Amino acid sequence: MADKDGLKVSKDYGVGIPFANNTPFHVKGANNLDWGMKRHLSNIFDAKSGKTVMFAFDHGYFMGSTAGLERLDLVIPKLLPAIDVLMGTRGALRTCIPPDTGKAIALRVSSGSSMLNDDLSHEILAVDMEDSIRMNADCIAVQTFIGADGQLSSIDNLSKCINAGMRYNIPVLGVVAVGKDMERTDRFFKLATRIVAEMGANIIKTYYCDNFEEVVAACPVPIVVAGGKKLPERDALTLAYNSIAGGAAGLDMGRNIFQSENSLEMALAIRKIVHEGFTDKEAWEFFREATKS
Ligand code: 5RP
Repeated sequence: MADKDGLKVSKDYGVGIPFANNTPFHVKGANNLDWGMKRHLSNIFDAKSGKTVMFAFDHGYFMGSTAGLERLDLVIPKLLPAIDVLMGTRGALRTCIPPDTGKAIALRVSSGSSMLNDDLSHEILAVDMEDSIRMNADCIAVQTFIGADGQLSSIDNLSKCINAGMRYNIPVLGVVAVGKDMERTDRFFKLATRIVAEMGANIIKTYYCDNFEEVVAACPVPIVVAGGKKLPERDALTLAYNSIAGGAAGLDMGRNIFQSENSLEMALAIRKIVHEGFTDKEAWEFFREATKS
């Protein structure tokens, strides 16, 4: 940028003022989109609560067989009652998930890294739009790395998906990833989520942080919050509650559900927070009651 020195600091986020372009369609930033786009977004975001419970089990694309996901065919079906959206790879979905679950699909389409090279910031588009349409995906998920080595190629991937998504009415979920040496501050998330939204992504997945309300207010599309590494259940419920209270349109947790000894009850407790307005304390009480032997 020509003149970065002395830039004014953004401060007026209007936290608490509802998003203005919000009727009649219930998904933030989607009011002006076409019917087909809205149809997919309605499969993802509940029309009554406006929110979603996504379940991320796409870990295999970079972690291989992950603890808790050794048997996708056994693990996923039992969690279905608690989940609105299945976020996975086409390999996992086609091989292990019955096609008649009635759940929305968030299809992971970027790939190219693994735990062995320890660099997630350089990915390619592994799944083309044709196959995403064949999978009847309700959105396609692309990793984006703002401020990292792979920024240019990840924005290139994102843009290609958005261009194809606009052509065929498939929403794009931009995953705002954080490299291991990068800050997890509201300053970073405001920058990265806004860039990805302004590129045209319809949903953003990112992490919770301090001042999360401002990140949400500054982002013109729904934010779903990622879980991250496994926490004690009580703490994961607090993360879920804080995210929803801060304005998130849902959760997209993986390990905090499938690595719990009581994965279904955990997912159901999260569902209570997302769709029924439970506090973390109420959700914890629900979880304890449901897991009492
Ligand atoms: C990776 C992802 C994964 O879906 C996500 O990290 C998995 O969820 P969790 O961290 O909750 O186990 O988006 O970039």
